[in-house]
Amino acid sequence: MSNETKRGLRSQQWFNNPDNQEMTALYLERYLNYGLTREELQSGKPIIGIAQTGSDLSPCNRHHIELSKRVRDGVIAAGGTVIEIPVHPIQETGKRPTASLDRNLAYLSLVETLYGYPIDGVVLNIGCDKTTPALLMAAATVNIPAIALSVGPMLNGWFKGERAGSGTVIWKAREMLATGEIDDEGFMELAASSAPSVGYCNTMGTATTMNSLAEALGMQLPGSAAIPAPYRERGQISYETGKRIVEMVREDLKPTDIMTREAFENAIVINSAIGGSTNAPIHLNGVARHLGVELTNDDWQALGHEIPLLVNLQPAGKYLGEDFHRAGGVPAVIGELIAAGLLPHPDAITANGRTMAENCAARRTENDDVIRPADAPLMPAAGFINLSGNLFDSAIMKTSVISEEFRQRYLSNPDSPNAWEGRAIVFDGPEDFHARIDDESLGVDENCILIMRGAGPIGYPGAAEVVNMRPPAYLLKKGIHALPCVGDGRQSGTSGSPSILNASPEAAAGGGLALVQTGDRIRIDLNTCTANMLVDEAELEARRAKLGERPFTPESQTPWQEIFRESVRPLSEGMTLEGADKYKRLAQGPL
Ligand code: FES
Ligand code: MG
Repeated sequence: MSNETKRGLRSQQWFNNPDNQEMTALYLERYLNYGLTREELQSGKPIIGIAQTGSDLSPCNRHHIELSKRVRDGVIAAGGTVIEIPVHPIQETGKRPTASLDRNLAYLSLVETLYGYPIDGVVLNIGCDKTTPALLMAAATVNIPAIALSVGPMLNGWFKGERAGSGTVIWKAREMLATGEIDDEGFMELAASSAPSVGYCNTMGTATTMNSLAEALGMQLPGSAAIPAPYRERGQISYETGKRIVEMVREDLKPTDIMTREAFENAIVINSAIGGSTNAPIHLNGVARHLGVELTNDDWQALGHEIPLLVNLQPAGKYLGEDFHRAGGVPAVIGELIAAGLLPHPDAITANGRTMAENCAARRTENDDVIRPADAPLMPAAGFINLSGNLFDSAIMKTSVISEEFRQRYLSNPDSPNAWEGRAIVFDGPEDFHARIDDESLGVDENCILIMRGAGPIGYPGAAEVVNMRPPAYLLKKGIHALPCVGDGRQSGTSGSPSILNASPEAAAGGGLALVQTGDRIRIDLNTCTANMLVDEAELEARRAKLGERPFTPESQTPWQEIFRESVRPLSEGMTLEGADKYKRLAQGPL
């Protein structure tokens, strides 16, 4: 007897419930009204939801509208029935004030949908930055069989014979505009050259990171993350994904079976090897919390910091998404890590029912400049470190993007290697930073540490990617390109600065950053992973007494912003909602 027969399909509680014929008829008749048949709904065919994140509002994921046709073919070929599920849109580059506010909203609505409707298994249409964690979180909470399908990256962008990568090209275009190399029209042309087709960002930003990590967790078919959106293989793997989810329902293979603690440990290691974004710990810690898997920023440092960087993609490296796919994509990275003995759990199970090792151990890089073998990496230790002190309990630093200039200036003092002190220059949010950074009376020099507060999940609702602080223009002209920066917000995955980010708790929640003042001495020590303001305890208490009830928290603009702020957890804990993350494995409980 198959699991399906033993367990009974949950959709049959709606469509074929002998204890309540009246409700069965009511549920059934409306789903017949557009042409589905009783045979499709009542004969034990798994009903597969396609969580549709593609729409005109979401250009990165829009190609899912096409791909879903192939998913549907696959589901039907394997004996299932499809019901497409509209998901609240999240477009990283279109939503104001920030798309990250919508991650938890899309999550909540998809949980309600998957729980409350007759769905036996679900295909998660992932792609643009926040769509991936939102859908993985929902699948984790409801815990019905689920498989993710990336929309795939855009084709490589090109401009005058050079690769033009998403996000990264904008920084270059700004410089060219400033020097008069291009005009406004040229700026637009250069920016658009980086987006030549449907698909997600072609650089190693948050999208490539999170799609790769969905595969690293075992939630996609092997090789699925990196296939460019317009390639024929993208349609083909969509068909395979559709077939596979039907089998997963029959096998009752659920998110809790795949996304185990071991799977997250693998994902942390793979994130270092691909040079993944500082947004990854936020999202993976969030997914883990919804599963009841313990995962903290300490794990990211302990497991990830020493892992070498293998993937040579912009912004840190040279290449783009098409190159990554042609070099073997995520399976080649995993194969190289397994060969070097660096993947902690090669026996972790994946969505196709096989282990990581069975899927990837024989895979190797097919272009060793794009994906390096582990014995010839781009960098030896590419993971994050997790700092703490009286400024915050936890903040992430991506040491792999520390430039030689930065290393020489701050980390090479023979008396205190990897540690330095500086004078704090404090900004209350990005607007304050932009208004004052070039003001010479601030006295910013190379012995300063720039601090931005009021940029966390509560202070700048959703924690927009605004902690990108450059030195003042007069220092740039002197050849100083980066100052040490600390912030309680996030930074774009396409940016390459070694800031100390995601500081938690944030100033708006009363974290240490709320107390720091311009002129305070700050000591950062990468040996002990600490960051402290050298201010005595009595003075800090006096400052705390003067804080208002809701410091650094401007008025909400929408109802959701207000609700979000009431119950959001810090970035270090995944920015999940306190009221939501206590609910687990909903589908296993009574309906
Ligand atoms: Fe959508 Fe980058 S903006 S993937
Ligand atoms: Mg982003």
